[in-house]
Amino acid sequence: MPGTVEDHFKTFNVDLWKYDGQAGALIPLLQSAQDTYGYISEKAIDYISHVTGIPAAEIYGVVTFYAQFRTKPLGKYVIKVCNGTACHVNGAKGIGDTITDELNLDYDETSDDGNFSMLSVACIGCCSLAPVIVINDETYGRLTPAKLRKILRTYKHRAKQQAKAEAGD
Ligand code: FES
Repeated sequence: MPGTVEDHFKTFNVDLWKYDGQAGALIPLLQSAQDTYGYISEKAIDYISHVTGIPAAEIYGVVTFYAQFRTKPLGKYVIKVCNGTACHVNGAKGIGDTITDELNLDYDETSDDGNFSMLSVACIGCCSLAPVIVINDETYGRLTPAKLRKILRTYKHRAKQQAKAEAGD
């Protein structure tokens, strides 16, 4: 049985729960929710509202105002495209465009089937491999659009297989 909202948030980053009534504290709370769950759910908004006394509608307004906050869960495969300087000068734009073309996905979006999300990140520390992407925990470097398409097709295939397995085929 689902418990109370508090039960649901047992793993919440408790350090940030020392809410002191300042409006500015709302942003770290929302960041904490997103770091913990990958997105800010309605339940998170309800709980933050419960803790802070800020009306949920007001919190929702803040969430939708800042592009950094997501209200939908991330996809099964999260593609982080490095847009740091080295990657930028080595073709990160073409890498992003290839993903958009291959998966019909833009930055900060999740595909309708819930399989892929695409995020832009700053330097991830392997500039010698630029341009670089990370899919979940796997890093891919020295990418070209052709190489990337192959990688993405492998993931598409994998996602399809998983969906089939989950459907019990
Ligand atoms: S700039 Fe992309 S890894 Fe450093």
